[in-house]
Amino acid sequence: MPKISLPKIPDKVVPAPLRKPAKPGSTDAKGQAPQDLKSAPPERQTHVQKLTDQAKEAPVDVLAWVDQRTGASGFLTGMLYRKVPKGTNWFYTLGSATLFAFIVQAVTGVFLAMFYTPSATQAYASISHINNEVPLGALVHGMHKWGSSVMVILIFLHMGRTFFFGAYKYPRELNWVIGVVLLILTMTMAFTGYLLPFDQRSFWASIVGININGTGPVVGPYLSDFLRAGPELGATTLSRFYAIHMLLVPGAIIALIGAHMYLVVKLGTTAPPWVKAEKPKVAAPVAQLDAGVESNGHRGNGSAPTA
Ligand code: HEM
Repeated sequence: MPKISLPKIPDKVVPAPLRKPAKPGSTDAKGQAPQDLKSAPPERQTHVQKLTDQAKEAPVDVLAWVDQRTGASGFLTGMLYRKVPKGTNWFYTLGSATLFAFIVQAVTGVFLAMFYTPSATQAYASISHINNEVPLGALVHGMHKWGSSVMVILIFLHMGRTFFFGAYKYPRELNWVIGVVLLILTMTMAFTGYLLPFDQRSFWASIVGININGTGPVVGPYLSDFLRAGPELGATTLSRFYAIHMLLVPGAIIALIGAHMYLVVKLGTTAPPWVKAEKPKVAAPVAQLDAGVESNGHRGNGSAPTA
């Protein structure tokens, strides 16, 4: 398997105790003494010099402290330096674009929640207030409103990419299933968010949406009753949609995106269908699996030809 050469980690970010000690009397490329030897030895340093040195090391010490207790650097190294198959292209950015759209929705949503009132009598007025009086309110509201459509479009494009590239096949079936749940939850976000301005359009569109849900087999009528939260669409429906939109679904999406990303890192990325796996140099079954070629001829774990 070809070895990837990892970029050298700059000395500055490596905590002092873990740095390679400089060879006695050694100099750097410019013929100067290494940084550690430039300052006076500890016994000859003034109190201020010692404090300055400690302050310089503080951020790195904090990182090292956290790292020793979490092992985060191992995880981050595995994630950031993971192998990517040859031939990956812009279509592979659609998942990250969907993630970015979700983050934008989460951030703008938090700011909107600071001014929105989820009450049947005040919801519309609070949205008008956001749009007309709150500084940058119209921008943040606009980003959230249009961002929801962007996220829905991106998630479908990302799903299309994974489908047409065969990324749903073994061993990524579970990630596909998680993706399907993410798709349903994203649509739920778009649907429940639509009612929140509580204007004529959102009111009647939500009635249509709830009735469509009611036509589903077996669970349909229960689902529409649950969503309506009463005999007619009204104040209780708005509270229910707000709770689903603000708490229930975002929490589930965050948890599932975590699982989705874990599996992406663990399983690697699928090579594009037109990239042929390299012929293994040693014709042993283990070597074949390593190169991503299974005995049935299917592309394997995506670790095949790496860029
Ligand atoms: C909130 C929604 C989603 C986010 C944030 C998300 C994010 C990502 C990211 C960042 C990747 C890795 C990069 C890439 O291949 O694009 C990925 C891979 C993947 N996603 Fe999603 N995804 C979402 C929804 C979905 C949906 C709806 C499906 C399918 C039903 C899906 C199925 C997959 C699969 C199978 C992979 C592995 C791709 C491979 O191995 O080449 N994801 N996802």
